Amino acid sequence: MRRRHTTLGEFIIENQKDFPYAKGELSALLSSIRLAGKMVNQEINKAGLAEILGKAGNDNVQGEEQMKLDVMANELFISTLRNRGEICGLASEEMEDFVIFNDEMHQDAKYVVLIDPLDGSSNIDVNVSVGTIFSIYRRVSKPGSPVTLEDFLQPGNRQVAAGYLIYGTSTILVYTTGNGVNGFTFDPGIGSFFLSHPNMKAPEEGKIYSINEGNYVHFPNGVKQYIKWCQELDESDGRPLTSRYIGSLVADFHRNLMKGGIYIYPTGTKAPKGKLRLLYECNPMAFLIEQAGGKATDGFTRILDLQPEELHQRVPFFCGSKKMVEKAEEFMQGH
Ligand code: AHG
Ligand code: MN
Ligand code: MN
Repeated sequence: MRRRHTTLGEFIIENQKDFPYAKGELSALLSSIRLAGKMVNQEINKAGLAEILGKAGNDNVQGEEQMKLDVMANELFISTLRNRGEICGLASEEMEDFVIFNDEMHQDAKYVVLIDPLDGSSNIDVNVSVGTIFSIYRRVSKPGSPVTLEDFLQPGNRQVAAGYLIYGTSTILVYTTGNGVNGFTFDPGIGSFFLSHPNMKAPEEGKIYSINEGNYVHFPNGVKQYIKWCQELDESDGRPLTSRYIGSLVADFHRNLMKGGIYIYPTGTKAPKGKLRLLYECNPMAFLIEQAGGKATDGFTRILDLQPEELHQRVPFFCGSKKMVEKAEEFMQGH
């Protein structure tokens, strides 16, 4: 007999009382994301059979090649959220402009969603973990009017909730509403997520550094020096550290959150502003890692305090165990 686990649905409802102002819309929105996540999960699980692997044949707004599953995940999230009335607009990594939901059902909704529908999509054809990242804000424009760019360009410290799904050896949904971080594993036989990782905490220190070292010669000096420091032998603090890099932010983040580690995507000659997107990737992950006791910066400034200037803005990203991020910052600031 399995132990009685709380389902994600039960957990969302139980925790609704943490929001004195909440009328259940946020709970309903989280449930919609759960539903869209299940649909994407099902498509990904059978991807090798359903002729949905490979390239879609076009580039996204950022000039990156879209995979068929990028397009499919994007459409599934939009249609699932549009079918329900909890948000008045959505912005996605895969679309140049935000989408306005401006009919009777949506115009009074309080929330907007930002998503990276499929993260790590270059891994999809080789059966390596990919994910979905989401971020939720309250709109700042007046309800009843169409959602505006301002509603999406809020600093990360205004997030109401954020999370990710990782489609890995098992499918896990991890989220926060600013009250700690909890993880739920999907049981495909039953079709439900169950609380499997309550109150997740990032170890203060860790042994793993995750960075695409193929770009080493293009990195800023601070990052080069930090990597050298990670590789030095010092038995007193367990160096050299171990290098682990999957190339799916969600998967690298999840491993480091569980085991202790640092993820770095710095600036470089190829990516002068960094590669990861502030709104769809860095802000939600920064909210999660801080809620788990870790840290996220651009090497100098807290990610959550950056004022976004455009939807698809990129930033350098240093994220993970608190002491490791602080050490990397020391190197950045020293150079
Ligand atoms: P996406 O698939 O959503 O475009 O994101 C890919 C991101 C991130 O998941 C990953 O950590 C990083 O790009 C990998 O980039 P490199 O291949 O340059 O290391
Ligand atoms: Mn991504
Ligand atoms: Mn993506």
